[in-house]
Amino acid sequence: MTDKALPTQDVSARVQHLRQLVRYHQYRYYVLDHPEISDQEFDALFNELVALEEAHPELRSEDSPTVRVGGVVADRFEKTRHPAPMLSLANAFDDDELRAWRERLKRLLSVEEQQRLAYVVEPKFDGLTVVLHYEGGAFTLGATRGDGEYGETITANLRTVRRLPLQIPVGDRDDLRAPARLVVRGEAYVDKADFERFNREQVEAGERSYANPRNFAAGSLRQLDSSITAGRPLKLWVYQALIVEGASTPIRSHWEALAHLRALGFPVCPDMRRFTDDEFDALVTYVGEFGGRRHDLPYEVDGIVIKVDSLAMQEELGFTGKDPRWALAYKYAGVEAVTTLLDIVINVGRTGAVTPNAVLEPVQVGGVTVKSATLHNEDYIRDLDIRIGDKVAIKRAGEVIPKVLRPLTELRTGAERIWTMPETCPVCGAPLVRPPGEAATYCVNNACPEQLVRAVEYFVGRHAMDIAGFGIKQAELFVEKGYITNLADIYDLPWDEILTLEGYGEKRVENLRAAVEASKDRPVDRLLTALGIRFVGSVVAETVMQHYSSLLDLMDAKVEELSEIEGIGPKIAESIHEYFSIEPNRELIRKFAEAGVRVQAAQASEAAAPQTLAGMTFVVTGTLPTFSRDEAHAFIKAHGGKVSGSVSAKTSYLVVGEAAGSKLAKAQQLGVPVIDEEALRKLAG
Ligand code: IVH
Repeated sequence: MTDKALPTQDVSARVQHLRQLVRYHQYRYYVLDHPEISDQEFDALFNELVALEEAHPELRSEDSPTVRVGGVVADRFEKTRHPAPMLSLANAFDDDELRAWRERLKRLLSVEEQQRLAYVVEPKFDGLTVVLHYEGGAFTLGATRGDGEYGETITANLRTVRRLPLQIPVGDRDDLRAPARLVVRGEAYVDKADFERFNREQVEAGERSYANPRNFAAGSLRQLDSSITAGRPLKLWVYQALIVEGASTPIRSHWEALAHLRALGFPVCPDMRRFTDDEFDALVTYVGEFGGRRHDLPYEVDGIVIKVDSLAMQEELGFTGKDPRWALAYKYAGVEAVTTLLDIVINVGRTGAVTPNAVLEPVQVGGVTVKSATLHNEDYIRDLDIRIGDKVAIKRAGEVIPKVLRPLTELRTGAERIWTMPETCPVCGAPLVRPPGEAATYCVNNACPEQLVRAVEYFVGRHAMDIAGFGIKQAELFVEKGYITNLADIYDLPWDEILTLEGYGEKRVENLRAAVEASKDRPVDRLLTALGIRFVGSVVAETVMQHYSSLLDLMDAKVEELSEIEGIGPKIAESIHEYFSIEPNRELIRKFAEAGVRVQAAQASEAAAPQTLAGMTFVVTGTLPTFSRDEAHAFIKAHGGKVSGSVSAKTSYLVVGEAAGSKLAKAQQLGVPVIDEEALRKLAG
C-alpha cells in the first residue's frame, strides 16, 4: 500500500488516508511480521498523523490508530452479556479417545454428511479468552469470557493490543467489505520469550512477577489503567467467528471463516490444518507430531483443538451441557498431572519475602519427577481453596518451576485441612508481616539466617559478583557454620577451617579462594547490583554508577539528587536512599572497601574507545544478532553513551533485535528513532 500524496489542503482526506496507511503498516508489522516499509518511514507517517490530529481537534476520532491508549482510568469493569454462551470444550487424553469421538460424531450424522465430514485442527492457545465486537468494521467492544454468559468489558485495554485491528478490513482491498456486524472469539496471550523477559525484568526491579503466561495475560488485561496494559507485550490469535452479519463472501465452514477473518486483517494462527474424514489417520499423526514440537513454538499451547468444519453440521450436532459435540480438546500427556498435596511449607527469600511451597507425593510430569511446586502466596492458596491432603492438578511448563493449578475438589474426603500463613518465621521465629496492599508476606528479621543465605546466593550469582564455585550449597554451609553473618564476611572467610570440612580439599578451596579474590575487581555497578537493593537490578545499578565516583559517595546521595538521573524514578531513588540510611548497610560498604573490593567507579581514562556516543541515551530491546544485552550496554558505555531501561521522550535511540516487544511500540509512539545492532556500531564509528 502506498502513500498517494493527496492534496495537503484537504486535511480530512489526508487524515483518513494516513489512518488507513498506519493501520495497514501496523498490520504488516504486528500481524504478518513482515513490514513493507522501514521504521523511519512508518514513524514519518505516524508522526504526520499525530501532528494533523493535534492541529485539527475536530478530526480526532476514537478509531484512529493513534488512540490505542485512552486517558481514562476505570474504577471497575462493566459487564457485557455475550451474544451466545461461551462454550467450553470436552477433553481427550489419548488417541483412542480421539477416535471414539469421531465414531460418536458419525453415528449422529447421515451417510451423506459423513462423506462430506472434515475437521480443522488448531493449537489450543493458553491465554485469556476474549470476545471482540465490530460494528460496520469498527472495533466497538471487547470482553473477557467471564462465566460464559457475562464477561467483563475490557475494551480500552484490548485496544492497546497491537495485533487487534481497530478497523477492518485492514488495507485497501476493494474486494472485501467489513461485515455489518461481526463478533469473534480469540485468545490474548504472551509469547514465552516475552513472558520470561518481562518476569526477569520485574524480578530485577523488585516487582511482582507472574506465575505463567496465562496469569500474565489475565493480569495485564484486567488493569483498570489501560496505559499499564499498553506496556505489556500482549498478542492475540482469533479462532472463531461467533456472529457474522452481512459478510461479502458466503461462509459455510469454519475453515472459510478463518480465511475470511485472516483476509479482514485478524491475526489467525498459521498452525491450523484441515483434514477430511478419510484423512483421519493423518490427523491423528499430526496431533502426535504437533505435541512433539509444541515446546518449540513461540507461544504456549496446552493441547490441540479439533473441530468439525461444516457450520451446518456443527449446528446439527449441538452441545451437551457446556461442551459442543462438534469440538474436542486433545490434552498432551505430561503437561498436567494429578498428585496429593502432602504439606505446605514456606521458603524465605533474600528480601525476606516468604513463599508457600507445595510438598507433593512424587509424580512423573513430562519425564521428570516432581516433588514440590510453588503456591506463590497466601491469596493464591485461599482463592483456589487449596487444602493440605487435596488431590491437586499440577503443571510443568517448559523450564518453569512446576506449579499447583487447582485442587480436585470432587475428590475430597473431608480429611483435608485448610492452611493458614504461619505467624512466625519457621527459620528464625521472628514475626511474619504482610504489608497492606501487598500480596507477599515478609519475615521482619533482617538477620534471619535464611534471608542471609539467599542474599549470599544472590551476591555471588552470575549477574552480580559472579564467584565461580560459590552457590547455594556454599551459602548454606558458611552461614550455618557462622562464617558468614553479613555479606562482607564473604571476603573474610576462614580458609584454614574450610579446609577441614568434608568435601573441601586443597584444590577446591584454592579455586574458591581465587574466585572470591578475583571478584574484588568487578566493576562497581556489579557490587551495587549484588547488594540486592529493591528495584536496583543491573541496568539501574549501571545507570546510577555513571553519576557517582564511588559507592561511598552514593551512600550520601539525597533522594532528589538520585531521582534527577535519567531512568531513575522516585521509587528507585527512595529505595536506594532507604537502604543507605540503615547504619549496618553503610558499615557493610566500608567493610567491602577495607577488604579491597572495588567501590570506586572506573576512571574516565580507562575508556579507550572514542566517545562517539556521548550525550546520547540508548535503550536496548529484543535479541541482538551478536551482542548479548550486557555486551551491548558495555559497548554503548565504552563509547560514552548512556543506557536506560525504559523508553522515554529523552531516549535518543532504541536498539532493537529480534522479538522486540512493548518497548518498540512505545518508541514508535514517542517517535524515538529505532536502529539495529549494525546501525549502532556504525553510529559508534
Ligand atoms: S474453540 C465451542 N479453539 O480453550 C468452541 N478454544 O475449554 C470453544 N482455546 O477457554 C472454543 N485455543 O478460550 C477453541 N483454537 C481454539 C482454542 C480455544 C484455546 C480455549 C478457549 C476456552 C478453552 C476451551
